[in-house]
Amino acid sequence: MKVLVVGSGGREHALCWKLHQSPSVTQVLCAPGNPGIASVARCLAIAAEDIPTLLQCAQSEQVDLVVVGPEVPLVMGLADQLRSAGFAVFGPDQAAAELEGSKAFSKQIMQEAGVPTAAFEVHHNADEAEALIRRWGAPIVVKASGLAAGKGVVVAEDVETAVAAARDMLSGNSFGSAGAEVVIEACLRGEEASCLFIVSGDTIVPLASSQDHKALNEGDRGPNTGGMGAYSPAPCVTPAIADGVLEQIVRPVIATLKQRGIHFIGTLYAGIMLCDDGPKTLEFNVRFGDPECQPLMMRLQSDLGTVLLAAAQGTLEDVPLQWSDESAICVVVASRGYPAAFNKGESIKGLSDIEAQGATVFHAGTAMKDGQLVNNGGRVLGVTASAPDLAAARETVYQALSALRWQGAYYRRDIAHRALT
Ligand SMILES: Nc1ncnc2c1ncn2[C@@H]1O[C@H](COP(=O)(O)OP(=O)(O)OP(=O)(O)O)[C@@H](O)[C@H]1O
Ligand SMILES: [Mg+2]
Repeated sequence: MKVLVVGSGGREHALCWKLHQSPSVTQVLCAPGNPGIASVARCLAIAAEDIPTLLQCAQSEQVDLVVVGPEVPLVMGLADQLRSAGFAVFGPDQAAAELEGSKAFSKQIMQEAGVPTAAFEVHHNADEAEALIRRWGAPIVVKASGLAAGKGVVVAEDVETAVAAARDMLSGNSFGSAGAEVVIEACLRGEEASCLFIVSGDTIVPLASSQDHKALNEGDRGPNTGGMGAYSPAPCVTPAIADGVLEQIVRPVIATLKQRGIHFIGTLYAGIMLCDDGPKTLEFNVRFGDPECQPLMMRLQSDLGTVLLAAAQGTLEDVPLQWSDESAICVVVASRGYPAAFNKGESIKGLSDIEAQGATVFHAGTAMKDGQLVNNGGRVLGVTASAPDLAAARETVYQALSALRWQGAYYRRDIAHRALT
């Protein structure tokens, strides 16, 4: 079959890489893709949010399956439009994508489904938000309800920080309409894990466990980013915890959506806090995590094309998932300065030496300029490797990274520390 992948990040590179290896897939297209993706897919210069042109492209290329990587086109309704035109699509409709697109909606569904999550209130008015924050006290969490590229959450250790964050969001200054509604939550403590599921109607298939590092700096300190690294499996997600997340969180949420006439097809990502009194849901995303997708794809042994097509067509129960026993790790290489301002257009070399040492380089924010590979975004590369155990995988990845020749590179040297200490 011919598959069109929408997106241009490390996640989409890992998906295209795996689809390219899938016996069921004859051709991979990617819109818009990036220079790394171009080695495993035919890239088409169409933005991931350009729904009319993507629809035309799916038609003219006669693709058999469309896989939507990022959340923005899903929340805009790309999957709905493709399905109406008769295409098999892996990715939820707009109504289901609201689980990620609106944190207020997501919390309401969690409440209705009776799943464990932090106590919350939704506010639209700054004075009322402030009154609640002062009543509850710190620590407290303030979230822009809409999409904010991983930057719309403030975990405030004191009341004034929380009040300032809520006022800033509600004024529209930092997040525009995404901040017009805020969710104020009780602060949970514990270790975090990502539990991903492939969902197709009533069929819910868990993926292998994984954990990411959102903080910029070593020791999980500093500002939050889109993700600085990830690994799989995550030892803190025991089989009992994984089962609890499936039965007590994901199944009830999917059932509650169904009662509202909303059918979920795609990846459901539950962000979980492992609290002393059991797992609690921090959030839902409606797509693969980036960078969690990279180690997951490295460990997946099944034919990804078959799995995603089956999910799109409602026959997922017939397709078991197989995972390698190995551990995989992805270290994100970012532009120095990210998530604040950084330079673009710096030359990046040494990638073939990295790969010669047994790692795979997934591209995210790269571009070609005058025939040279340069950085063109905040998160630039996802250097990924697998090995019989996590310590060996980490050794491979960091050893390989010593071959990177790019002055402006920044990466954490402690990815997976929580699983190894
Ligand atoms: N109730 C809470 N208590 C403590 N920490 C929280 C809480 N909610 C969120 N956080 C912290 O903030 C981070 C981001 O929150 P959340 O996952 O809701 O935001 P997001 O911007 O949608 O993230 P992502 O980019 O992963 O989708 C979480 O990973 C967690 O570390
Ligand atoms: Mg999210």
